[in-house]
Amino acid sequence: VKQGNGVKGLVDSGISKVPDLYIQPVDKRISEANSEHVVPLPLIDISGLDGPEHDQVEEALVNAAETFGFFHVVNHGLPIQFLEELKDAAHNFFNQPAEKKSVYLKGLSPSPFLDYGTSFVPDSKKSFEWKDYFFMLYNSDDDALKYWPDLCREVVLKYIKTSTKIATRILEILMKNIGVEVDDSMAETYMGIKVVNMNYYPTCPDPDLAIGLGRHSDFGVLTVLLQDDIGGLSIKVQEDGKEEEWIEIPPPIPGALLVNIGDTLQILSNGKYKSAEHRVRSSTQSRVSVPLFLFPGPKVKIGPLPQVVEKDGQAQYKECLFGDYKSQYFARGYSGKQALDFVKITSP
Ligand code: SIN
Ligand code: FE2
Repeated sequence: VKQGNGVKGLVDSGISKVPDLYIQPVDKRISEANSEHVVPLPLIDISGLDGPEHDQVEEALVNAAETFGFFHVVNHGLPIQFLEELKDAAHNFFNQPAEKKSVYLKGLSPSPFLDYGTSFVPDSKKSFEWKDYFFMLYNSDDDALKYWPDLCREVVLKYIKTSTKIATRILEILMKNIGVEVDDSMAETYMGIKVVNMNYYPTCPDPDLAIGLGRHSDFGVLTVLLQDDIGGLSIKVQEDGKEEEWIEIPPPIPGALLVNIGDTLQILSNGKYKSAEHRVRSSTQSRVSVPLFLFPGPKVKIGPLPQVVEKDGQAQYKECLFGDYKSQYFARGYSGKQALDFVKITSP
């Protein structure tokens, strides 16, 4: 891969075959056929939380978090027009010439909190993903002003601030349902670190051989995700009494945001809320997505909250430092939900 222009650079150079480095072993491939099994996710109008439908909306959020671990929200405070601007900003970033992007490569980046890269590949994994990304860790507005690219700074800052409010409201509701009162300081403890990724999945000459993003669950508390209308994200679900299976999430209705539960919320809730595995297939059309990941700092202790353990009778997970959990997660690469085994209490 030519440094600084990622997989997009490969595609722009006119390749007609997937290079060997990107060919996935057969068991990791995601066939197009998978896209035939499409199941709509719950679509929740969260503006209802402020009106007479409060209880139904609350119930819908809790149900979705317990079953799918993924749901769409609408009327969340970010207008469609704004979401379009954010997608445009992502396209504009990756459409820049290589020399504009390569200044953010690891080791060169002006800030340790900004990182442009390609095919995020944890050590334990062999085949590269068909994907480029730009990682932005929010530190302060001043830091953003100093280091973030002009073409996305304002929209990304607004996305972080509003989506954090949305996620905080959702966390409050999910926690209330398990007997835990969330105040501002608790929300800040568990979701104090805010990372936005702009992901770019270039067109792929043979989507069956490559993958956009391998199977994984998110390690944090909550993720808010803006997708475009290309599709390709699938999640692993277990419907009542059936085997687990992968279903493809159809592109959302315009204006919707996807919200999903991360491992840390599964741990805090003693397993009540599900952190679902998900992955992204490659496609013959380019796709962007913009997740906001919310998670604790490395020194924060995570474990099932005492109120929940008391109710459940026993803890399903051991307490550990979030930093240790994250290290375990990355040491395992993208391997489904294996990091949870690190903290799982196995019954004698
Ligand atoms: C992610 O899981 O981090 C991104 C998913 C997507 O691109 O839809
Ligand atoms: Fe993810």
